[in-house]
Amino acid sequence: MALPRFLERSRLSFETLPTWRNEKKFEECAACHKLQRSEDSVGPSLHGVFSRKAGTLTDFRFSPVMKRSGITWDAKTLDAFLTDPQKVVSANRMPYAGLADAKDRADLIAYLQKTFK
Ligand code: HEC
Repeated sequence: MALPRFLERSRLSFETLPTWRNEKKFEECAACHKLQRSEDSVGPSLHGVFSRKAGTLTDFRFSPVMKRSGITWDAKTLDAFLTDPQKVVSANRMPYAGLADAKDRADLIAYLQKTFK
């Protein structure tokens, strides 16, 4: 059954809303991270971060602890790291306290996944 026009339109805006909300979450990271390939700033580019091994971008100077962490970034390891970066990789150089709210982390990770799909 075809939806009435006004409903169709409202459904569209419901679909675009979460994307916008998730993108907002990245603003905290954007101070130090870019999403474009090979564009490092204070932090390394997060381009294609999923399934990348931590500390392996050759054009960024990572801390020794990040290189040795043995982490492969995926939704799960990112979630743990972003909860408390210094707890997961002790003495790493990312000056960020963490994102305490699980929902905020989930939104942010969803945004990154969508960006690199
Ligand atoms: C104030 C700057 C700053 C902020 C804010 C920041 N980061 Fe970082 N980030 C860094 C630095 C510097 C490193 C490198 C750490 C090291 O080598 O020990 C890093 C490393 C990382 C890494 C590891 C990358 C790799 O290739 O191994 C990930 C993933 C990451 N940050 C994600 C995030 C996310 C997501 C946010 C937002 C919630 C964020 N960061 C906020 C500076 C920042």
